[in-house]
Amino acid sequence: SLAESATPGAFDFPELRAGVDETLHVAEGYETQVLLRWGDPLFPDAPAFDPAAQSAERQQRQFGYNNDFVGFVPLGESGRGLLVVNHEYTNPELMFPGLPASDRRSLVAGLSAEQIAVEMAAHGGSVVEIALEGGQWRPVLGSPYTRRITAETPMILTGPAAGHERLRTAADPEGRSVRGMINNCSGGVTPWGTWLSGEENFHYYFHGRLPEGHREAENAKRYGLGTPMYGWGRLHERFDLARTPNEPNRFGWVVEIDPFDPASVPRKRTALGRFKHEGAAGIVDGDGRYVVYLGDDERYEHVYRFVSDAKAVPGDRAANADLLDSGTLSVARFDADGSGRWLPLVHGSGGLDAAAGFASQADVLIETRRAARFLGATRMDRPEDIEANPRTGRVYVMLTNNTRRTPEEEEPANPRAKNAFGHIVEIAPDNGDHGAEAFRWEVLVRCGDPAVPATRAQFGAGTSADGWFGMPDNCAFDARGRLWIATDGNSRKATGRADGIWALETEGPRRGTSRHFLRVPSGAEMCGPCFTPDDETLFVAVQHPGEGDDEAVPASYEAPSTRWPDFSPTMPPRPSVVAVRRKGGGPIA
Ligand code: FEO
Ligand code: CA
Ligand code: CA
Ligand code: CA
Repeated sequence: SLAESATPGAFDFPELRAGVDETLHVAEGYETQVLLRWGDPLFPDAPAFDPAAQSAERQQRQFGYNNDFVGFVPLGESGRGLLVVNHEYTNPELMFPGLPASDRRSLVAGLSAEQIAVEMAAHGGSVVEIALEGGQWRPVLGSPYTRRITAETPMILTGPAAGHERLRTAADPEGRSVRGMINNCSGGVTPWGTWLSGEENFHYYFHGRLPEGHREAENAKRYGLGTPMYGWGRLHERFDLARTPNEPNRFGWVVEIDPFDPASVPRKRTALGRFKHEGAAGIVDGDGRYVVYLGDDERYEHVYRFVSDAKAVPGDRAANADLLDSGTLSVARFDADGSGRWLPLVHGSGGLDAAAGFASQADVLIETRRAARFLGATRMDRPEDIEANPRTGRVYVMLTNNTRRTPEEEEPANPRAKNAFGHIVEIAPDNGDHGAEAFRWEVLVRCGDPAVPATRAQFGAGTSADGWFGMPDNCAFDARGRLWIATDGNSRKATGRADGIWALETEGPRRGTSRHFLRVPSGAEMCGPCFTPDDETLFVAVQHPGEGDDEAVPASYEAPSTRWPDFSPTMPPRPSVVAVRRKGGGPIA
């Protein structure tokens, strides 16, 4: 329309039609390339993927399952880099032939020891060198950087809680060594070139019950333990609460990994708190300290911020080796007048002391959730990814949904009861200082279909019938400071559209206006949006394609809702990382 052309927005691509079908779609003028699929060989000697012959040994040398976070670490010249990818979880019903059609929770009881070992090897992460040749990205087989991290990779705990008695087990009497990372959802890449990876729903991996009257009982309840979704605890003592009651305290952390050294030991940074970590995106503050924003993805959980004590030295991994071990973790309180406060989670302050059951900073960190609630943090509608715009310094909080919120619980920062579609909160730190105690905030969009008044959805006026979305999850800024949203939970049934990528205006008269760019095949969610520094490539992660498009109709290996990306009758659907580029080249518009 004339009105639109008179106030041009930041985005200039032709909008994609929303919908659901068995394949991936992108806006006209763009092309997509499947770069890495579950099972793709990562090492020169790795076996080709064969779903009928899959083994843990093979899986350890192949790309893992359910790619979520994607980070790009440039290597010298443009056109080369390291892709760091989280493998969040596994879908046995889509991975293994011959399982009975059933819900996932009952499936786990029937998995074989080898299938469980495959699952453990398909978790974790991958470091893959990639190179751009003739407009196509390719994995560099034989790169010295290639690495698979799994649920068995040795790691260490560092920071204030490391070594605490509540982290000690029979296998690790020092409380400093852990095997593996699990359910790593989103993350971040630091300015010194390391990869931060957030352990999210770690509670699903633990079987059994704590011994009667055990000191971890309240802690275990707070984190939802006792609802296993995996069979690992049948085979591994460490995933059985009755036998290893402290093991859950060794999960739920942000893990820092040096992708340049495949022999380096990943570090679980306890200073960043223990909860269901979504992401760990950061920004260097004006005074040089590194600030990481952290979401705890569960209904009524909180928004966190970590500020390092020391200044970051961009580009120098050695200089920042211990940076994330000392700093202040805070939790957000969003007040009704549009102001907010970061409440420090520091032992001995604000009543976080022995009388409240926190004998040390280690206790505060191991039970971060309880400490946050104790301080009066705001109970949010599932905080997922949180990122600061590198151009404006404003911070965006993805709140994916919370259908349990009651009308009595409506409050300005979480304004809708039965919040099925989520919303996005914008934070403006006082004086642009990410270390400041105070901030201003407002709701940027209330997601859902604005044409349905009952949803109380609200987007900017230029948003089309394809342009609105539900359930924001991940986000990314391009080099120009434009915001891109990835969703988790749209479906034919929920919103009449697949998950995907939407570009969201944050500045000027079109603020809050959203435009559809890409959508995933049925059953998939959209993860990992990540731009190369020149904005010419957008990497996206297609997670769990082929799951049921409607949760009431579970899909199976024999009958997935799609066989993307191979579309072969003998190949299951495969989670994959996709590279998106403009036809003919140039920055994504
Ligand atoms: Fe793994 Fe919060 O999504
Ligand atoms: Ca996910
Ligand atoms: Ca997520
Ligand atoms: Ca999610």
